[in-house]
Amino acid sequence: MYHVKYWTVKALCATFLLFILYGTGIGDTVHKEDKIDAQALWTYMTVENPYQNYPAWPGKEGFYESTMPPGNILRLYINDVALDTIVNKKGVFPDGTLLIKENYTDDRKLFLITIMYKMKGFNPAGHDWYWVKFKPDGEVRLEGKVDACINCHVGVANNDYVFTGSIK
Ligand code: HEC
Repeated sequence: MYHVKYWTVKALCATFLLFILYGTGIGDTVHKEDKIDAQALWTYMTVENPYQNYPAWPGKEGFYESTMPPGNILRLYINDVALDTIVNKKGVFPDGTLLIKENYTDDRKLFLITIMYKMKGFNPAGHDWYWVKFKPDGEVRLEGKVDACINCHVGVANNDYVFTGSIK
């Protein structure tokens, strides 16, 4: 009798642990099948796994200036799979890649957060990037297959749509 109970408890614990581990994957948290929600992404990156703790793009630690007029001040945060891709020159970012760019004014006031999130099957013609423009309070200004973003980033399509550095 004692044994049965013990195993039940163990099984319950294992199930619970698996549930937690499973739930921590960004793909499972942020998107279901090919559906994505910018609010879920915002909650993920600000509450569940705050992006301020993510690594920087190697060589782009801290604040730096945009290469594009009007030359905003930027900070770029990337998740671990993105870092792995860059460091190991893998040539293409995998499913679940998250790139978060903060835009600041000259006096270091945050005014915009732009995101690229890779989601397998979302937009194969555009390398499956999901684009979002957030206000600093999380308000969604643009999201999805955003032409305004794609039309400029397509210039670096051969670098998986990313400007900051070569990933090959
Ligand atoms: C006119 C061209 C242009 C447009 C439009 C544009 N970007 Fe970018 N983006 C850049 C450049 C150039 C960089 C590299 C950083 C820099 O020098 O500003 C960049 C960098 C980024 C990065 C960091 C990863 C990378 O490519 O280096 C993200 C994320 C990003 N942009 C998201 C967006 C989103 C979301 C939109 C649409 C709301 C957008 N961008 C629109 C030119 C553009």
